[in-house]
Amino acid sequence: MKPGYFSLALCLIPLAATAAPVATPYADNNGALPPASQYNGPLFKLSHAYPAKAATPAMPWRDAIQNGQITLQNASVYAQALKEAVGKDMRTLLFDYTHWDAAARGWYNEPWLGSASPALRYGGREAIHGMYVGTNPLDASLFAASGLKRPITTYVLTYYDKVAAQTLNHIWTAGGGMKPNVTPTSTQFAEGSLIIKAAFVTAGPDVWPVMAGTQAWPLYISTNATANPNPNDAPPPKVTNTYLMQFDIIVKDSQSAPDTGWVFTTLVYDKNAKPGPNGIWDQMVVLGAQWGNDPQANSTVNPAAPLLQNWNNPAAPAYGSATLGWGNRLSGPNDGAMNDIGYKDASGQQKIVKNAQDSSCMGCHSTAQWNVKANDMPHWLLPSLSTKDKKAPVPVEGSDTAFLSPPPGSVEWLKWFQNRKGNVPMDAGSVAADFDMVLTFKSLPLWSTATTGKAHRLAGFDLRGKPLAPRAGK
Ligand code: HEC
Repeated sequence: MKPGYFSLALCLIPLAATAAPVATPYADNNGALPPASQYNGPLFKLSHAYPAKAATPAMPWRDAIQNGQITLQNASVYAQALKEAVGKDMRTLLFDYTHWDAAARGWYNEPWLGSASPALRYGGREAIHGMYVGTNPLDASLFAASGLKRPITTYVLTYYDKVAAQTLNHIWTAGGGMKPNVTPTSTQFAEGSLIIKAAFVTAGPDVWPVMAGTQAWPLYISTNATANPNPNDAPPPKVTNTYLMQFDIIVKDSQSAPDTGWVFTTLVYDKNAKPGPNGIWDQMVVLGAQWGNDPQANSTVNPAAPLLQNWNNPAAPAYGSATLGWGNRLSGPNDGAMNDIGYKDASGQQKIVKNAQDSSCMGCHSTAQWNVKANDMPHWLLPSLSTKDKKAPVPVEGSDTAFLSPPPGSVEWLKWFQNRKGNVPMDAGSVAADFDMVLTFKSLPLWSTATTGKAHRLAGFDLRGKPLAPRAGK
C-alpha cells in the first residue's frame, strides 16, 4: 500500500470526510444525494424483503426448445424466450422509471453494495438508479474499430427475480444482513431463477458513435473515465448521463443445461436494429448464449476447435463481439474478458500480451466460491498466479497494466475453463456459490470489511483487478 492511499480515497468520496457514514447492509445509496437543481426525479430504493418461498415458475424458455437441451441450433430461440420473459418488467425499469417499483414486481437487490467503503475505494451505489462502478476504465483500444475516442467507466445494476431471491433470503435474512449463512445448500438457486444485470457506459454518441439513440440514464457520480481520463482527477459528484450498452439475463436451468445448470445470455444495444413497438428494447440484440465452458476445446492449441456450448449471434453489432473471451467464448463489452497479461512462454521468456482473451461469462462466474474459514475466494476470477501471496492480482514488471497469468492453454489456465455444477466448488474446502459473483466478489468482501474493520483484499477492485479508484501516485 502506498502512502497517501487513505487520504486520496477520502477526497474521492467527499461525504466520507465529513459524515463518515457507517456501512449498513441495506443502504439505498452511498449518502450523496443529487441537489434538486440538478435532478428531482425518483431515487433508487433497495428491494430487500427477500421471499422465504416462491412457487416454481412457468419456464417458457424450456418450452421454446421443447423441453430438450440447449444446442447451437436452438440457442437463439431460447435466448429470445428469456428476453421476452423479462421484457415487460425490464422495459419499465429501463424506460419508464417513475413507474418502476421493484418490490411490487418481485425483483430484488443484493445487500452491502449501497454504502461506500472509503478504505476500499468502493464508491457504493449512486442515489438515482442504485448503480455502482462495474469496470473502470475500459481502455479505448478495445473498441477502436467502432470509433471509441476515450476510455469508459461502466456502471451496473443487478436484480434477482423472486425465485432467485429465495437464495438471498437463505443467506442474509435470518442474520439481519449482518451474519451471512454461507453453506453448500443456502447458496444454491432454485430451478427457474432469473438474474439480470444492466450495464451503462459513460461514453455517449459524441465519443462512441455506436451509442447513438440508446437510453440515457442520469447518475449522480464522480468516477468517469470518459470525462476525466486522468484518474487522479476526482471531482465532486454531479448528475451525469450514462448510456445503455449491455443487458445480461441468466437462468438456472439444469434441464436445458445439465453440465453447469445455468444458461448465460446477454443483449447489446444495436443502433442499426429497427426500433419496433417496444422501442429501444427491440434494439437490444442477443449477443450470444453460453451454457458451458467447452473444456474439450483448447482454443490456444487449436484455435479452430469448435465450441459446442457457446452460441454467438452472427447478426450482433460488431462492437459487441469485439471483446469475446478465450477462443471467442461469450463475453460482453462490459465484462472485461480481455486483459493485459504477462506469462512465461515455453522457452521461459517473459511475454506481455495486450488485450488477451482470457475469460468468458462462465469461466469467470465458475470461480464463485467462498472459503468460510479463510473468509476469502481462494482463486482470482481471471486466470492468474495471484493466490499464494494474497495479492489480487500480481502486476507484471515492465508493464503498467498487465498481471501475471498462467500461459494460455496450459493445464493451470484450463482450471478456469472447466464445467462444474453450481454446487461443486473450484477448490475443495470452499462453498460453491452457484455462479453468483456478486455474493463472493462484492457482498461478502464488503460485509467483511464493514464488520471487521479490516479491508478485505477482494473488495476495491473491478472485475479485472483494476483498483476501483486511483492509487496515489499512479
Ligand atoms: C471477468 C469476469 C466476468 C465475466 C467475463 C463476466 N462476468 Fe458477470 N459478473 C462478474 C462480477 C465480478 C460480478 C459481480 C458484480 C460486479 O462487480 O460487477 C458479475 C455479476 C453478474 C451478474 C449478477 C449476478 C451474479 O451472478 O453475480 C450477472 C447476471 C452476470 N454477471 C452475467 C454475466 C454474463 C451474461 C456474462 C457474459 C456475457 C458475464 N457476466 C461475464 C464478473 C464477470
